[in-house]
Amino acid sequence: MSASESAAEPPPEQHGTPGPTPPPERDATPGPDPAADPSAPSPARGGPVTADRIMEIGMGFWPAKALLSAVELGLYPALSEGPRTAAELRDRIGLHPRAARDFLDALVALGLLARDGDGEDGRYANTPETARFLVPGSPGYLGGFLAMANARLYGFWGRLTDGLRTGRPQNEIRDRDTPAFDARHADPVRLRMFLQAMTGLTRSLLPALGEKFPWDRYKSVADIGSGEGSLLGHLVTVFPHLTGVGFDLPPVGGPFEEFTAAARISDRVRFVPGDFLRDSLPPADVLVFGHILHDWDRDTKLKLLAKAHDALPEGGAVIVYESLVDDARRTNAFGLLMSLNMLVETPGGFDFTAADCRRWLTETGFRSTSATPLYGPEGMVVGIK
Ligand SMILES: C[S@@+](CC[C@H](N)C(=O)[O-])C[C@H]1O[C@@H](n2cnc3c(N)ncnc32)[C@H](O)[C@@H]1O
Repeated sequence: MSASESAAEPPPEQHGTPGPTPPPERDATPGPDPAADPSAPSPARGGPVTADRIMEIGMGFWPAKALLSAVELGLYPALSEGPRTAAELRDRIGLHPRAARDFLDALVALGLLARDGDGEDGRYANTPETARFLVPGSPGYLGGFLAMANARLYGFWGRLTDGLRTGRPQNEIRDRDTPAFDARHADPVRLRMFLQAMTGLTRSLLPALGEKFPWDRYKSVADIGSGEGSLLGHLVTVFPHLTGVGFDLPPVGGPFEEFTAAARISDRVRFVPGDFLRDSLPPADVLVFGHILHDWDRDTKLKLLAKAHDALPEGGAVIVYESLVDDARRTNAFGLLMSLNMLVETPGGFDFTAADCRRWLTETGFRSTSATPLYGPEGMVVGIK
């Protein structure tokens, strides 16, 4: 981030609880996207000119869809009780004999399945990664996100070219002018799939969010657009002094209550139904916008930050976390592709850099801002009122 882009940083004032001191000043620009593989030989780095990378990316939908179908078919939970042969898996998850061994062995070759032995007697098993991230009930489970990617995004991205030409979303609201979330939230099955997907996406950044913000200085947190409540679940468990509010559209109330009851935190958090485009935000010492601002156009982003400013006490903090684009818009391919995903999914949404967000926070009245990387492509920007 250049000095000219940095928000003014007045010296922190001393207040009572909650304390206003911002976290240390850092640039949240995440590291280069692993998919970009900066260590790979390339003509620019003096390496040989080959078609390998072009083919790998151009045909990336092959391995992507093999994995998404494995999740859809329930392959990984089918292996959670122990290894199985191809014949056993065929019966268990319903594979045609013609497809089974090529499908399973392709996943072995991709490192997405283990196999002990060869031929008909070979026994397939989860790898450490698939056991941890793709078996429901495992603490790291992110299959919900991949299930949503399979059921929705995979098809919608097939129309990316239309989106690039027209600037129009390519999902359920392609031919209508309905707000982005109305269509999804009207169908309870799709709503639940979406909320579980968000929980899966967000889970991996929660430990860093707990560690990299001074939660001991604040007593209450409101998660704006909370989804099921995984963020609050993590925070109130790790910081027993915190109480939390989940604020989201009314249909999310049921899934929120179920999730927080299962996490045994119902006595520490409560759900407030509301529409952040129309209603005031609930007051709290800290307001969190997690994967929220990127859904909206610039004016709405600013409106939401201004509402957060209104709802916070003096010294309170707003936290924005997203797949932040690097400030030079060169390296975080995941953040930039996420922004194209917002083109596909929303009428006006886009992802942004930490520098953009800090500028918006300053424009909406926050007196100091800072930015910190979290996990993978995710980073947070903090504004102090
Ligand atoms: C992309 S999800 C993010 C969920 C969660 N914060 C996370 O990081 O995983 C967006 C959330 O915003 C909620 N939302 C969308 N429009 C809203 C509105 N107008 N008012 C309140 N919540 C809204 C959705 O229901 C959804 O839970």
